[in-house]
Amino acid sequence: MTDQDVPSVAGPVVRPRRLRTTPALRRMVAETSVEPRQLVLPLFVREGLDEPRPISSMPGVVQHTRSSLAAAAAEAAELGLGGVMLFGIPTRKDATGSGALDPDGILNVAISDVVAEVGDAITVMSDLCLDEFTDHGHCGVLTADGRVDNDATLAAYAEMARVQAAAGVHMVGPSGMMDGQVGVVRAALDGAGHQDISILAYSAKYASAFFGPFREAVDSSLEGDRRTYQQDPANAIEGVREALLDVEQGADIVMVKPALAYLDVLRRVRDAVSVPVAAYNISGEYAMVEAAAANGWIDREAAILETLTSIRRAGADVILTYWAAEAARLLR
Ligand code: PBG
Repeated sequence: MTDQDVPSVAGPVVRPRRLRTTPALRRMVAETSVEPRQLVLPLFVREGLDEPRPISSMPGVVQHTRSSLAAAAAEAAELGLGGVMLFGIPTRKDATGSGALDPDGILNVAISDVVAEVGDAITVMSDLCLDEFTDHGHCGVLTADGRVDNDATLAAYAEMARVQAAAGVHMVGPSGMMDGQVGVVRAALDGAGHQDISILAYSAKYASAFFGPFREAVDSSLEGDRRTYQQDPANAIEGVREALLDVEQGADIVMVKPALAYLDVLRRVRDAVSVPVAAYNISGEYAMVEAAAANGWIDREAAILETLTSIRRAGADVILTYWAAEAARLLR
């Protein structure tokens, strides 16, 4: 090398910024993408409604009537979403959540409505849990002294699985965090001849403050908390253990929930299992972005896409998000 070859202005030889020069180049080297097919839209249907009712803590999300629910599911199918996840809100609740097991209960008739509307153009999923149907708001039935009775709850989940299957659901989502719930639901489905109905297991589900707005969405009667069955936010290894147990019991997809405060758990679970991994971008995560955007404090659409990209980057193959339909439009 002669003196003349030395650049007059010394600078770095390696320049990562080169690959950020133009939108086309950035698009080419993007490691992560979000596609409508990876998004699942949670939908609420409330018994006895005449028109959709807004949920104040979740601006833009409503409790549907049976007919507006079917229309929303049809729209989700047209947008090419991966699925819809149905939650039912009954007019009457009782100690055992019997409305969840009643073939004429709101969630079960809504499953039939939606499947009649969309066929298999989109995957129809349903929440398999008692909390929307119990007057005490817990995810299971209680013992005489008021504790959540794991094994008695499993019997109810088995029946709920059979009833949802009979209504035509494609995939059930056991979300109550009872020990053994996936195995019991799998056995109940198989025993009733529904070997093809799959299970999205809420595997690593944490006792989170971010579920707050959901409690309004389903008119929850819960007082207290779910810490004896949902996980301690301090525990990540335990989240992996829960996911591995669910895979052993027959889960087809395992889920981490919430998403944003648990992206490390999501990554660990993704690395530990060989089934698709879902993440639930929950009500409180939605509400935080919506509230900040309503105040003009953040750019709403950019925040939505950044949120979904981050959850995908952390390892989610599938994302449940209240923004699913809107995101699909933004991504077009
Ligand atoms: C239980 C269930 C809950 C959510 C989904 N399924 C509530 C809970 O466990 O307290 C929360 C979803 C959200 O916050 O968006 N049926």
